[in-house]
Amino acid sequence: MKHITKVIIGLFFFASMQNVSAQVYSSTGQLLSPTPPMGWMSWNFFGDNINEKDLMEMADALVSSGMKDAGYEYIFIDDGWQGGRDKKNNMIADPVKFPSGIKALAGYVHSKGLKLGIYSDAAQLTCAGYTASLGFEEQDAKTFAQWDVDYLKYDYCNAPSDAITAQVRYKAMADALRKSGREILFGVCEWGGRQPWRWASQIGGQLWRTTDDVRDKWEKKPTEKWGVGVMDILDVNAELNNYAGPGHWNDPDMLITGLYGKKGPSGDGGGVGCNDIEYQSQFSLWAMMNAPLYATNDLRNMNNATKNILLNKDMIAINQDALGKQAERKIKTASWNIFTKPLANGDVAVAILNRGNTDAAYVLNLSAIGLTGKYEWYDVWEHKTISKSNKWNGMVKCHETKVFRLKLLK
Ligand code: GLA
Repeated sequence: MKHITKVIIGLFFFASMQNVSAQVYSSTGQLLSPTPPMGWMSWNFFGDNINEKDLMEMADALVSSGMKDAGYEYIFIDDGWQGGRDKKNNMIADPVKFPSGIKALAGYVHSKGLKLGIYSDAAQLTCAGYTASLGFEEQDAKTFAQWDVDYLKYDYCNAPSDAITAQVRYKAMADALRKSGREILFGVCEWGGRQPWRWASQIGGQLWRTTDDVRDKWEKKPTEKWGVGVMDILDVNAELNNYAGPGHWNDPDMLITGLYGKKGPSGDGGGVGCNDIEYQSQFSLWAMMNAPLYATNDLRNMNNATKNILLNKDMIAINQDALGKQAERKIKTASWNIFTKPLANGDVAVAILNRGNTDAAYVLNLSAIGLTGKYEWYDVWEHKTISKSNKWNGMVKCHETKVFRLKLLK
């Protein structure tokens, strides 16, 4: 095909994808991912140093910690599981890391009432340099289905930077997954560079990463060359609220809760760790923004502060609310961000984030965020009703996010 013809076809393809959202339904007519997925992902803590024993222990811990009962469902094998291809070009798992194979691991995870996620990339090699799926989309999708995998995170390292190629490559895998005979969730992971919120849902993705990889830090310092933190990601993802909804979610990357700067890739790029107030803030803000909630800490060794955050069922209920509306940032100053998120039963979740570097007092008049009338205020972190009022005033700690569930009083 002549170059000019290719460009024209590409432009039509790109134009037809803009701002469109098409949901994917299961064979029984149910929406795939009607609420944001929840689970545990291996990357931030282990990097590619993974094996079946650690992953089975994480599945056990997801259950014994109460996280499964709180809604966490997926165990994700991120990059590093691959052992190349066999003589028939079927993908195989690294026999040393996964001696029993991925299908056996899926069986184990399923026996616990959980689901299994896996990782590949739309090029010949993944980000960490392992075998990837370009040119083998149908074969690999069939392999994943045959292994009983439930979710594919599909990365974009080693691929051309233009948006049209990205759309073509992601669509090829999404189509292959649909043809695989198994319902497999599809997570687009090209880090936001090609505005996937405008097209990922249309090509068959249930969620799409919006930013670079989160590091275990509050924010990037001006002196740091790379490595984004919670605030840097918030500022990108918060502006994309209109693109998210049931079956199609913005993904601002994993939770860093409980990592404490200790291990894995999340410690690179200035990821020295956060304090518990900051971890609680990330959890609150991610829940408000309908982010997928993927814990990444060592679930086998959690302190009480970490458990308290990850197991906050009131906060999880806001994230998993059936209306699926991503919070809107109503107030944005250097020190204060105020978010509102309407909920299915008519309640409204309100978050007050203190971005400043000291504890500070704040007065929130509901009229300032477009809410009229008097509300009952339920404190989502204190787990109790605190007042009936049309305003709130109180102290917010440095980097803390207060979250309230408001019920309109008749
Ligand atoms: C990229 C992704 C990460 C992780 C690594 C694995 O950086 O954004 O989430 O999957 O690749 O190599």
